[in-house]
Amino acid sequence: MKGLVLAGGLGTRLYPLTKITNKHLLPVYDRPMIFYPIQTLVNAGIKDIMIVTGGNNAGDFLRLFGNGSLFGLKHLNYTYQEKEGGIAEALGLAEHFAEGDRMVVILGDNIIEGNIIQAVGDFKAQKSGAKIMLKKVENPKDYGVAELKGKRIVNIIEKPKKPKSNYAVLGIYMYDNEVFDVIKTLKPSKRGELEITDVNNAYIKKGNLTYSILEGYWADAGASIDALLEANNFVAKNGANKISLKRKRR
Ligand code: DAU
Repeated sequence: MKGLVLAGGLGTRLYPLTKITNKHLLPVYDRPMIFYPIQTLVNAGIKDIMIVTGGNNAGDFLRLFGNGSLFGLKHLNYTYQEKEGGIAEALGLAEHFAEGDRMVVILGDNIIEGNIIQAVGDFKAQKSGAKIMLKKVENPKDYGVAELKGKRIVNIIEKPKKPKSNYAVLGIYMYDNEVFDVIKTLKPSKRGELEITDVNNAYIKKGNLTYSILEGYWADAGASIDALLEANNFVAKNGANKISLKRKRR
């Protein structure tokens, strides 16, 4: 199982904080935002990781992480997204890295309190297809939202005006190698991006998408200044990735 952290895009919603740096390098409590999703993968036992960056600050990621020893890794892989072509475009850049293997993809601004090891284990046991993670939220309009019939997801709508449920689709996705064929069939959305929601809907059509409900806190810390502030406050108080940051400090 390989891991992919997506940290491309321009982060315009956090401007002017993102005028001179990449959104994922902004602090969330005592470390850069992107530390959390990498830790999420490492905690799930995933050691073969690639980071997709973009924009003017890609070199900073290399200076920050080097070969990943901060996370106990021997090696980290990097690739560069030329433009902000969407989450699915960024994922498509990892085809050569996947080498036919399955992959857990996490967005560089998604922070969780707990662990996804159980969901990753369930996905390993799944014969093929994809798995996403859902969480009940109060503001579903801000996310991809799952429409459920019984326990089955029948559709996902990206930032719907009238959400069909309160279940947001988190920025943690698991795919078999067919995802790269799916991405090649996508057309850019109205906002000019290849949408991850279209990828997931393609798996729904094939009857091959499962989901898990995430327990504990989840933040899309890059969604807005308020979301960034809330994530900072939560992590300062409670920690993240099952690590109490306060206790870890010397
Ligand atoms: O956080 C969960 C949400 O993430 C989902 O509920 C949505 O379905 C999904 O579309 C996504 O929505 P956002 O509006 O939050 O996506 P955003 O454009 O903020 O991009 C999220 C991350 O994806 C960003 O931190 C870096 C990466 N990304 C994004 C784009 C557009 C890239 O690597 N390249 C890109 O071109």
